[in-house]
Amino acid sequence: MKKVGVVGFTGVMGAGIVQLCAQSGYEVVGYSRDPERTRKALAVIEKHLGRLVDKEKITAEDKAAALSRISATDEMNGLAACDLVIESAVEDMNLKKSVFTELDGVCRPDAILATNTSSLSIIDLAMATRRPNQVLGLHFFNPAPLMPLLEVVKTIATSDETLEAGKAFGESLGKTIIVARDAPGYIVNTLLIPYLLNAIRMLDRGQAGHEDIDTAIKAGLNYPMGPLQVADYIGLDSLLFIANIMYEESKEPQYAAPPLLKKMVTAGWLGRKSGKGFYEYR
Ligand code: CAA
Repeated sequence: MKKVGVVGFTGVMGAGIVQLCAQSGYEVVGYSRDPERTRKALAVIEKHLGRLVDKEKITAEDKAAALSRISATDEMNGLAACDLVIESAVEDMNLKKSVFTELDGVCRPDAILATNTSSLSIIDLAMATRRPNQVLGLHFFNPAPLMPLLEVVKTIATSDETLEAGKAFGESLGKTIIVARDAPGYIVNTLLIPYLLNAIRMLDRGQAGHEDIDTAIKAGLNYPMGPLQVADYIGLDSLLFIANIMYEESKEPQYAAPPLLKKMVTAGWLGRKSGKGFYEYR
């Protein structure tokens, strides 16, 4: 694989995936129809690469080379020459299905189509194409360039060749690979989501304050962030969406969204991206 396309590249995850692929030597094409969001996403990638230069993690030449490998397109057709396209659009099944149908129409017959969805059924997306055997999940963690893990997700229709290609691609990005089944939450979120929701329930019933809950986990378990910080980092709307899907699928009470989470999303307190969640952000 040489050329990678990313749909939804102006979102936090999409931009991180573009940056990671470019840093790993791939030509990357980011698709977005919004020129203003495209400009902002490219500026964010440049800023992150600049911080890596400041911290002497990469050289100024590495930064320039990575940026030279990134291009943007506002037409799906601009992804026609890609060997792999990773969809990282918002978690909306109908939107994602139409993206997959469009990609199937423009991409080469041998191209692999992947989704970064954390909760939606991948076989549903695969069946929106005429190549379900060449569709799989590549689930990255935020921030994609820094987090070591990649969950490679196989549906019942994914071919062995596609799975192996997905694993080899992840390894070429320097990721630690685990293979998961196409079930909501895969491995990480099946464990993470109940933990985050429990922290919110604990706050809601007044058992502890938000800073104490986070400090307990950081200092007691040596996690880099506490659960409420992670929730703000993921985005409370995304967390609510993932929890709802997992609850719908399993009907297990551990995935039922706490009222406080719903109220915060209704109030527009979405975490870091809106400037307010369990914490305030400038
Ligand atoms: N490229 C390079 N650097 C980036 C970056 C990017 N795309 N995005 C963020 N960073 C850097 C920032 O520049 C910042 O560094 P500076 O302050 O030097 O500018 C740094 O990340 C964040 O600041 P920290 O002081 O927290 O940095 P750190 O080195 O101590 O740790 C961390 C960063 C890796 C994010 C660490 O805090 C961590 O591991 N946190 C946990 C994150 C986590 O749990 N992610 C998973 C969420 S779940 C998910 O994504 C999947 C899902 O389906 C819900």
